[in-house]
Amino acid sequence: MVEGRLAKLRLFFALWPDPELRKCIASDVESALRSADRSSINPVEPENYHITLAFLGSVSASSLDDIVRVCSDVHFGRFSLELDRTGYWPRARIVWLGPSRYSLELEALVDDLWNKLMGLGFRQEPQPYQPHVSLCRKAGGGLGMSLESPINWPVASFVLAQSTPGEDGPVYTVLEQFAAVN
Ligand code: 2AM
Repeated sequence: MVEGRLAKLRLFFALWPDPELRKCIASDVESALRSADRSSINPVEPENYHITLAFLGSVSASSLDDIVRVCSDVHFGRFSLELDRTGYWPRARIVWLGPSRYSLELEALVDDLWNKLMGLGFRQEPQPYQPHVSLCRKAGGGLGMSLESPINWPVASFVLAQSTPGEDGPVYTVLEQFAAVN
């Protein structure tokens, strides 16, 4: 009982692709990896693809109900994202995929989430928000990856997910799903 209350969960809110979208992204990554040096790249498993909206870090399990309650009040309409560019962050050694165009709807969703979370004492990191799907980790360089065509992501929900360490990297579990209002 005491252990349950004191337990910590590593939590984040994210856009979670459906299986079709995961396949589509994975197929572009697979093509790019064909001509890459695989020994220096750790591709993210397609089931782990997501776009983080808000990263909470390590949180007391006892806060989970409050987090779900306040974030159930985040209201947003369906919108689409166009994933049309890839990039490489040398410090994080991440190859990523994301939208090149600013999305007002995405920004509003992230802001609304943080407004609710700030009421619970969470603080957003100062760095600008950069929506991305991490495709490869521990990458020595970019993949020179180009997309055959932009990938359309129809956003109809977001999730609260938990990250737990696994043998081959983090394992993500969806704890709650929050649907768009229309
Ligand atoms: P990444 O894919 O760019 O590493 C679960 O760990 C999710 O939260 C991942 O999408 C990860 O982003 C993101 N994340 C991990 N640590 C973070 C941090 N300190 N700040 C913001 N996002 C973080």
